[in-house]
Amino acid sequence: MSVKIFSEHRLLQAKITTLRSANTRHEEFTRTMHEVSLILCSLVGAEISTAKISVKTPLTRTHGVKIERQTVLVPILRAGLGLLEGFRVLIPNAKVGHVGVERDHKTLKPKFYYYKMPPLKNTEVWVVDPMLATGGSLDFALAKIKEAKPYTIRAISVLASPEGIAFVQKSHPDVHFYTAVLDTKLNAKGYIVPGLGDAGDRYFDT
Ligand code: PRP
Ligand code: URA
Repeated sequence: MSVKIFSEHRLLQAKITTLRSANTRHEEFTRTMHEVSLILCSLVGAEISTAKISVKTPLTRTHGVKIERQTVLVPILRAGLGLLEGFRVLIPNAKVGHVGVERDHKTLKPKFYYYKMPPLKNTEVWVVDPMLATGGSLDFALAKIKEAKPYTIRAISVLASPEGIAFVQKSHPDVHFYTAVLDTKLNAKGYIVPGLGDAGDRYFDT
C-alpha cells in the first residue's frame, strides 16, 4: 500500500487545527470538514487516471485530458459523509456507494450494517472516512469493495494512527492511502491521540 501524508500543506494543517480544537463548535466543525475535503480531493486528484483527448478552443484545436474511468466515492457511514462533500463538488459526475460500519465501543471490532454500491468493475473507487484508528472499519470496507473488482482503490482520511496504517497496509498492499495527518498513537479506548475526538458525533452534533 502506498501511503501519502500531506503534513507539509499549511492551509490544510491550519484547518485540521480547527477540527482538533475542543472549542470548535458544531457549525464551524462541519464547515471546516467540508473545506478539508475540498483540499484533500484536490491533492488526491493529482493522481487520478486521465486519457488524452483533443479539444477545440475558440482559436484552435489542442490537446487536453479527460478523467479516464468512472469515479465511485464511498463514504464509510457515518462520519465519512462529512468528508464526501468536497469530493462531490470537484468530481460532480462521481457515483456514490455507501458502506455502513460502526465500531463496537467495547471490542473495537467493526459491526457491518449497510452496503449499497453502483457497479464497481473497472472503476476508480475512493473510500473516504475522516478517521483511521485501529483500521478495522476501513479493512472491512475494502475487503467488501474488492469483491466487485474495481480497477483502482484509493482510501482517504483526515487523521490516521500508525497502528491503523500498519494494519491496513498489511491486508491491502494494493490500495493507495492518503491522509492529512499521521497522529501519534491510539489510547486504551481506541481513540486517535491527539486526535479530534469522535468525528461522527462532532459532525452530526450527536
Ligand atoms: C469512526 C470513524 C471510522 C472508525 C475508525 O466511526 O468514522 O469509521 O470510527 O475506527 P477504526 O479504524 O478503529 O475502525 P464510528 O464507528 O465511530 O461510527 P460513526 O461514523 O457512525 O460515528
Ligand atoms: N473514531 C473517531 O471518531 N475518533 C477516533 O479517535 C477513533 C475512531
